[in-house]
Amino acid sequence: MRRLRRTEALRSLVCETHLRPGALVYPLFLCPGEGVRKEIGSMPGVFNVSVDEAVKEAEACAALGIGGLLLFGLPSEKDEQASGAYASDGIVQQGLRALKANRRLDSLVLIADVCLCEYTSHGHCGIVARDGEHFVVENDASLALLAKTAVSLAAAGADIVAPSDMMDGRVAAIREALDAAGAEQTPILSYAAKFASAFYGPFREAADSAPQFGDRRSYQMDGANIREAMREIDLDVAEGADMVLMKPAGPYLDVIRAARERFELPLGAYQVSGEYSMLQAAFARGWLEPERAMMESLLSIRRAGADFIVTYFAKEAAKLLG
Ligand code: PBG
Repeated sequence: MRRLRRTEALRSLVCETHLRPGALVYPLFLCPGEGVRKEIGSMPGVFNVSVDEAVKEAEACAALGIGGLLLFGLPSEKDEQASGAYASDGIVQQGLRALKANRRLDSLVLIADVCLCEYTSHGHCGIVARDGEHFVVENDASLALLAKTAVSLAAAGADIVAPSDMMDGRVAAIREALDAAGAEQTPILSYAAKFASAFYGPFREAADSAPQFGDRRSYQMDGANIREAMREIDLDVAEGADMVLMKPAGPYLDVIRAARERFELPLGAYQVSGEYSMLQAAFARGWLEPERAMMESLLSIRRAGADFIVTYFAKEAAKLLG
């Protein structure tokens, strides 16, 4: 076996898996204000940015050949109905309009996350009904608001809407609402297999979306279940998903592989905040070589079968690949 490992040229010739900037998606957290660039404590190098700063970030991403942006919003006010998620002047809607107006950004696919957790006062991904000590995240009442959010984001310029809430039936509800609103051409990237994961911890700081009570295990999946993940994808495909997103990525490579073997539609994987933060923590201590560890983590996700990767390393990786 070592004959083909002898030189860089030989190794390059027989390399089986490739990374390219165009298959990387960079998440952006939009916040109100101007000139705001606030670093997230648990995610070195990742910032909450106001719309003007987001345009600069996007220009840097486009120059690096990155494929797209995934947009999240931190609204100035939160309420029980998540009004900020579907307001026509909502923070992501404003961001989308500014990004779409800039022709230098035409090479970027603008993906808008569709969820309510950043916009609800209680931090859950849907409408909450409370009954004394107990609470339920109501499925069908949440669908109407998610559909409204998706329509509003498409109208503001989103190239793709990406529901991450994990309510049942949301893909069908969103598809129907988009079609009725004249957004037949807007694809749905469904976070079909999204596990209730401890690795979302730093994101909840970044997006200020930690649930104020309870947890997300009544809607996100149990990390023990791979067959159930396939059922989730089956259902989302049947409801009209154009592509699916798996998440987290690194701890769930077997799930990505299983999905790759079973489904023909485009498959993305989200290397989530905790995966990024734990590598950064090791880099800060000098315990891992940053470039090699970063590229290896991304290559593994590609090798498992993901067509594209959402990653906070997108800019760094694109620089190295460029
Ligand atoms: C919103 C959402 C979350 C992430 C993406 N969309 C957080 C959650 O479900 O609590 C996590 C992404 C990351 O950790 O980087 N529902």
